[in-house]
Amino acid sequence: MPKHFLITAGPTREAIDPVRYISNHSSGKMGYAIAGAAAHEGHRVTLISGPTTLDVPHGVDFLPVETAQEMYEATERYIKKADIAVFAAAVADYRPIAVPDQKIKKSSDTMTIELVKNPDILASARSQFGFNGTLIGFAAETENVIENARGKLERKQCDLIVANDVSRKDIGFNTADNELNLVFPKKVSSLEKASKTSLAMELVNIALELNQGE
Ligand code: CTP
Repeated sequence: MPKHFLITAGPTREAIDPVRYISNHSSGKMGYAIAGAAAHEGHRVTLISGPTTLDVPHGVDFLPVETAQEMYEATERYIKKADIAVFAAAVADYRPIAVPDQKIKKSSDTMTIELVKNPDILASARSQFGFNGTLIGFAAETENVIENARGKLERKQCDLIVANDVSRKDIGFNTADNELNLVFPKKVSSLEKASKTSLAMELVNIALELNQGE
């Protein structure tokens, strides 16, 4: 039976002034690959994405956003209809506290930008949005990959955290390949290094199995 996937992907962009922003190196490839794989298998897919250069996969409902706040609001609106939610976005943890209307001019040799925490969209899925479906998060780690992922799994009440080691140059951010650690509440496994497209197909199947078990 076709399921409804909600997927967040890509980076978010947080304005500093009208011409500058804070962001990160997320390409969006992993999230788009999952969206494409799920749609290809005949599932309904809502893809909520920050700015990327990728083509929107065929057959996907696409909701482009810029900021973490916009991604939060779009997710809150659409997650209720989903069976499976996959949070692959690299959401900026903080945003500038105030954004001036005019471009900031250079003056002193140093400058400080005060930041305020963005809402945690994944952590809000169960606690704020009341989502009861299968909840999958990602963790980009540079050390203690499994332990950190387990902490996120518990804190954000997920069924699975897909963790990758971003300290490695050959996989992860902005590369075609990835190698993934899968941290479930009661077990840990891994997916060998492969293209993001083939890993995406495996993740869609794992998500469907988790959803069957609920
Ligand atoms: N995430 C989110 N909203 C945020 C931050 C993160 O939805 N504001 C989601 C990401 O899409 C990803 C997971 O949470 O699925 C990983 O987030 P991460 O920032 O690595 O976790 P934190 O608990 O914030 O831990 P850290 O201290 O490592 O930043």
